[in-house]
Amino acid sequence: MSGRAMNENKPSDILERYSKVAIIGAGVIGASWTAVFLAHGLTVVVNDPRDDVEAVVDGYIRKATPTLKALGLPTQDLTRKLRFEANLDSAVSDVDLVQENGPERVEFKQDLWARIEQHVSLHALLLSSSSAKTATEQSLKMKNPGRLLIGHPFNPPHLIPLVEIVPGEQTEPGAVADAVAFYTAVGKVPRVLRKEIQGFVANRLQRAIFRECCHLVLEGVVTVDELDDIVTSSIGLRWAADGPFRSFHLGGGPGGFVSFFRQFAPGMEAAWKSQAAVTLDAKSQQTIIDQAQASFAATPPEKLEGERDAKQLAILKALASVKANG
Ligand SMILES: NC(=O)c1ccc[n+]([C@@H]2O[C@H](COP(=O)([O-])OP(=O)(O)OC[C@H]3O[C@@H](n4cnc5c(N)ncnc54)[C@H](O)[C@@H]3O)[C@@H](O)[C@H]2O)c1
Repeated sequence: MSGRAMNENKPSDILERYSKVAIIGAGVIGASWTAVFLAHGLTVVVNDPRDDVEAVVDGYIRKATPTLKALGLPTQDLTRKLRFEANLDSAVSDVDLVQENGPERVEFKQDLWARIEQHVSLHALLLSSSSAKTATEQSLKMKNPGRLLIGHPFNPPHLIPLVEIVPGEQTEPGAVADAVAFYTAVGKVPRVLRKEIQGFVANRLQRAIFRECCHLVLEGVVTVDELDDIVTSSIGLRWAADGPFRSFHLGGGPGGFVSFFRQFAPGMEAAWKSQAAVTLDAKSQQTIIDQAQASFAATPPEKLEGERDAKQLAILKALASVKANG
């Protein structure tokens, strides 16, 4: 990378280059991104056809403000640079970056990008929050998809660090570098995937583990409550500190990962092969839903969200202080 390009990607420079952002779709994810971008001093234009969009976004920002504050971000006058624009063409006509968070339907995203590219500046970064639809499939109706790529957050984006960056077949390398620099500058931990795959990485992992969670509950081995408790007391804590591979390195004793893997790989492979299919028919779904409802449906979601944010913030802060102390 040239010296000039590196300078261009300094946090202050990148936020200057991408200072005006359009949020397309302001539901759970779009509203949270709006809060992140405003807290970093960016101008945000929100486009969403729902009648109550202003109330929804204002309410979300108010709810997220204590978390943003706890993350050390300025929260005074947060909505000063926020505006709402119902017309898509106008919403994107004067922005440097589009963060798309609309419905998870590929035809919707294909039509949207084909329309957006007719009105947005050539230099604009086009980022989709999609959890599963690749940039290549989203771009099929575009003439020039070089600036389109996935910027997939983990809910809620204003708190969870990871953003999976997944370029499409025609994404320019410069767009990938800018996306990495941009998300880093707004406090995220961007990770670029080396190839496109449905569902990306973090959700594929969640899905694989959740399969076993459903299996264990349906088999009556544990209840929903007991399973959640087992996870937060073991692998949840372990994986917040070290990933699965490094954790197993430490589980291998003096021989480390090599010893662990040689010893356990055959057994794991056999166990994977013998795993029965998990059926989530109406009856199985109801079994799980009944237990889940009994466990947490009586508590208002806002209370659960507040508790989640407080716990996750505490973990992030503790990890940062361990890192700072070497
Ligand atoms: N919810 C999650 O945990 C999560 C996490 C990461 C990524 N995502 C992805 O983010 C995207 C949005 O998911 P969500 O959970 O926020 O959904 P959501 O249903 O909460 O929000 C979608 C929003 O899009 C709006 N919308 C509908 N049609 C539109 C249009 N024509 N133009 C602009 N806006 C329109 C809706 O009014 C709604 O507010 C999806 O692609 C999803 O895969 C979701």
